[in-house]
Amino acid sequence: MRIVLAGATGAIGKRLVLLLRKAGHHVVGTTRSTAKADALRAAGAEAVVVDVFDATVLTRAVSAARPDVVIHQLTDLPPGLDPGRMADAGPRNARIRSEGTENLVRAALASGARRLIAQSIAWMYAPGRQPYTEADPLDIDAQGARAITVAGVVALERLALTSPPLEGVVLRYGHLYGPGTGADRAEAPSLHVDAAAAAALLAIEKAHAGIYNIAEPGGYLSIEKARRDLGFDPSFRLEAQV
Ligand SMILES: NC(=O)c1ccc[n+]([C@@H]2O[C@H](COP(=O)([O-])OP(=O)(O)OC[C@H]3O[C@@H](n4cnc5c(N)ncnc54)[C@H](OP(=O)(O)O)[C@@H]3O)[C@@H](O)[C@H]2O)c1
Repeated sequence: MRIVLAGATGAIGKRLVLLLRKAGHHVVGTTRSTAKADALRAAGAEAVVVDVFDATVLTRAVSAARPDVVIHQLTDLPPGLDPGRMADAGPRNARIRSEGTENLVRAALASGARRLIAQSIAWMYAPGRQPYTEADPLDIDAQGARAITVAGVVALERLALTSPPLEGVVLRYGHLYGPGTGADRAEAPSLHVDAAAAAALLAIEKAHAGIYNIAEPGGYLSIEKARRDLGFDPSFRLEAQV
């Protein structure tokens, strides 16, 4: 298939380019940087240099790629989630989830893409009985910094799931660790970056429109839907495959 991967140079994006290419997909990856565009080409993808906040250029670039599927792996977070740089990261990341997703959804619709797969997060559930399933409510009564994050997540998920005729698939990822994340472990719900990338690959053909929790098993979160529908395996590691 022809895939547009927005955020192809991020922690998940880099691993996903390798998996998509290995599966035989044609990948058009986005970055804002010409240097990273060269790295994308070296990894076997086509590269387009575009800022998601430039709606006109984005729409033109996505349409030119003629994608079957658009994958949204855009975030705006400091490398390794550097605590000294996290204060303004929340609002910036919320903006990419709301305005950035709106631009990407518009571009996907204009291109005629069939499916949109979007990265969300799995630790925004409202307090309630655990393990949380995809049917449980989000924490829309949160306060402070968490409220900003929840608002971004709600906007991203609504846009992804209610923009017909796009089939929207939302992957609610756990806390990442592994290559490119700056962490070799993460708090629950945790998720290795390779398993995160693998879930996006599986979602291309196996997901029904809707939401999937994607994380390692534990008391906090149920991942039964992803195991059942996608064949998601949280122990997947790329080194063994590529
Ligand atoms: N669920 C989680 O726990 C989770 C999820 C995501 C990230 N993180 C963590 O956050 C840290 C940083 O993540 P990251 O390395 O993936 O980097 P990042 O800075 O969050 O960037 C991710 C991707 O989004 C793209 N991007 C950002 N702003 C953009 C914009 N305005 N227009 C177009 N593209 C844009 C970047 O492209 P360019 O910079 O090439 O333009 C990159 O491909 C890492 O430690 C990672 O593990 C955690």
